[in-house]
Amino acid sequence: MYIDHLEVKNFRNYEELSVDFDPRVNLIVGRNAQGKTNLIEAVYMTSMGRSFRTARDSDVIRFGQERAHVKATAAKSLIRTTVEVTVNRQSKKSILKDGSHVRKLSEMMENILIVVFSPEDLRIVKEEPEKRRRFIDRELAQIRPAYYASLADYKKALSQRNILLKEERPDPAILSVFDEQLIIAGADVMRMRREFLDQIAAYSGSIHASITNGAEALALKYVPNVSEGETKSDQQALLRDALSESLDTDLRLRTTSRGPHKDDMEFFVNGINARKYGSQGQQRTCALSLKLADLDFIRQETGEEGILILDDVMSELDQVRREYLVRTLSNNQLFITATDVDEGLLAAYPDARILRIEAGRVAG
Ligand SMILES: Nc1ncnc2c1ncn2[C@@H]1O[C@H](COP(=O)(O)OP(=O)(O)O)[C@@H](O)[C@H]1O
Ligand SMILES: [Mg+2]
Repeated sequence: MYIDHLEVKNFRNYEELSVDFDPRVNLIVGRNAQGKTNLIEAVYMTSMGRSFRTARDSDVIRFGQERAHVKATAAKSLIRTTVEVTVNRQSKKSILKDGSHVRKLSEMMENILIVVFSPEDLRIVKEEPEKRRRFIDRELAQIRPAYYASLADYKKALSQRNILLKEERPDPAILSVFDEQLIIAGADVMRMRREFLDQIAAYSGSIHASITNGAEALALKYVPNVSEGETKSDQQALLRDALSESLDTDLRLRTTSRGPHKDDMEFFVNGINARKYGSQGQQRTCALSLKLADLDFIRQETGEEGILILDDVMSELDQVRREYLVRTLSNNQLFITATDVDEGLLAAYPDARILRIEAGRVAG
């Protein structure tokens, strides 16, 4: 699966653009602030329906304009799909897939799957648990509609329960209705997170060993907020217990203190917690292993090769890591941004398409 053509109108600093991509490697080159990340953001938006940089769709609209438009054509063996995304100032978004309206984001996500690796991803390893949950939620939701649905149910029940807890005297009968919804959706969320992280742990472990030439062993661990049960009903019972144990606290704090919305994961490098004690370099390698593991997961689940975007990270990667990427990602479409094409990059990808970006234009 690859994207072979992109059209953009009033998207970030692009007024109008029409560009063909190579099915394999695209090097997007230009000085800072010329529009490299904007271009791949547009690519991402056509496949994922949203930006990877901002939560507010309207941010992508070119200053002074009313709407942004992106359109991409993707190819998968002989099948071609066109996806168009239009965003207006009211953040109203319309998505067309082969000319028909897409109502649920999950309907379009199965088409083109993209993994982005950028300097921002260091945060997944380094920062608060929310960043790690967001990684899990996004990656898993794009592959599993069932996860997307359970997570949405869980979040809805959670927000309703939290609103109720803010009332002077929360009605226990209503509370228990929300509790049941949380228990049912929460048990499913936890089970799917466990399955996902077991797979991601295995993949990232072997990737990490390769890219460090065996010097570092990565162990990724799911850290659920509520103990895990053997079966679905065990899990539901454990969640029920957690909610009832924390009821007094919840009433006092006026919020829900236990449940999968407090889950976390941990990275151990050679047995040492990488978030707390890892060097910046080790943390970056953890993030890279995690993202590459996600490509393995996509392949395993869908039989498709996902697209990989490497935004501003190539210059930071040493020779061993670069060689690993070249060797293992020989079937994926790649978008690599860099301030210049160095010799190493050219030697690695002699047939790459080079797109030179200057002030929102592709110069060649
Ligand atoms: N909504 C927008 N409308 C117009 N220009 C924008 C918008 N958002 C960002 N920009 C401009 O895009 C440029 C940054 O582009 P970016 O792709 O992030 O650069 P880089 O080439 O360094 O990756 C900046 O000059 C910024 O002002
Ligand atoms: Mg950039």
